[in-house]
Amino acid sequence: MKTHLVLFGPPGAGKGTQGQFLSKDLGIPFISSGDALREGINKKSETAEKMYSFIKNGELVPDIVVEEFMSKILDQHTLDKGFILDGFPRTVHQAEFLNIYLSKINVNLYAVIFFLIPKEEIVKRISGRRTCEHCNAVYNIYFNSLKDDAKCERCGGNLAQREDDKEEVVIRRIEVYEEKTEPLIAYYKNKGLLSEVDALGTVEDVSKRIKEVLSDRA
Ligand code: AP5
Repeated sequence: MKTHLVLFGPPGAGKGTQGQFLSKDLGIPFISSGDALREGINKKSETAEKMYSFIKNGELVPDIVVEEFMSKILDQHTLDKGFILDGFPRTVHQAEFLNIYLSKINVNLYAVIFFLIPKEEIVKRISGRRTCEHCNAVYNIYFNSLKDDAKCERCGGNLAQREDDKEEVVIRRIEVYEEKTEPLIAYYKNKGLLSEVDALGTVEDVSKRIKEVLSDRA
């Protein structure tokens, strides 16, 4: 089965966490626009500096910039069996761009998994998030009982709080999500691609629900 998936939902809903598990499980690439942009920024180009100024303030990187950037990232992967896209598309303009990109490589989206989660849970998850600076694995001080000097279980890298996870930036990210990204709910519903998943509960609970949704679609 070809499984070309978009994970979609508010900041901190658990898209990255689920995407990394699913990718391993299904043996298809996990492509996160947020991770890719942060890695791009670490390379310190002029474009990277411009992108960083948007990200640190909780704003979206402009469509044209992110579309060009993501098309280069997508080009680097083998996409014929499937992919898990996290964080892209984030606007209707980006969704149209993705349609054009996929039609050129003869790929159809299989499903858009929409993570349903209350705002209070988002704020708790984001404030407790710690991310590996080396491999992007995500942990949480509330849910993973991490020690102060804990290292990444996967690669031994340092765990740090993302700069855009500060409270005032998180509030802005949620506003931007509501204003610019939520219109994608209707967009993908109209195309018959949207599947809602309750994102509350343990990581295992949510994984199980996603698999159920995918098997219902098969
Ligand atoms: P991005 O990195 O994509 O951030 P986001 O969408 O805001 O999503 P997050 O990474 O915050 O959350 P997540 O849903 O992946 O949750 P996670 O699994 O980590 O984007 C960052 C910025 O980049 C944007 O603000 C924008 O500026 C820019 N950008 C990116 N893409 C762009 C685009 N397409 N266009 C324009 N700009 C773009 O989980 C959160 C925490 O909860 C973790 O600690 C995790 O361990 C924990 N957790 C997860 N699941 C559970 C669970 N079931 N129970 C308990 N804890 C859990």
